[in-house]
Amino acid sequence: MWRFFLVLTVSIPAALAEFPSTERQHELRNILEHDCGACHGLTLQGGLGSALTPQALEGKSDDFLVTTILEGRKGTAMPPWKKFLTESEARWLVNQLRNLPAN
Ligand code: HEC
Repeated sequence: MWRFFLVLTVSIPAALAEFPSTERQHELRNILEHDCGACHGLTLQGGLGSALTPQALEGKSDDFLVTTILEGRKGTAMPPWKKFLTESEARWLVNQLRNLPAN
């Protein structure tokens, strides 16, 4: 039984470390709205950049989208964000985009 607890206490902090802090989540939401929104539209329905709504991202893998955010897309206006975002933050953003409320 105690072995189960050991696994639990060792694995939970590791999982939390992957998740942006509440403060950082606030910053990331601001980046999404202002920086990403400048191209993708304030409500992310699209503008110069494509729509980033759950429907628009359906069928595209997390890895593909995370790579797009971190590396940008050559030949398009999509810039690389890896100087400003870690991979787990990009992953968190993709997860936010997949769960955007329809508006
Ligand atoms: C300077 C304009 C610009 C900014 C700023 C920008 N993007 Fe983009 N983004 C684009 C364009 C243009 C595309 C479409 C590229 C293409 O035609 O394949 C794109 C594509 C994407 C895609 C792929 C969508 C798909 O359906 O494949 C994702 C995800 C994305 N952007 C996320 C972001 C995020 C997150 C940010 C902010 C951190 C951001 N973008 C900021 C212009 C921008």
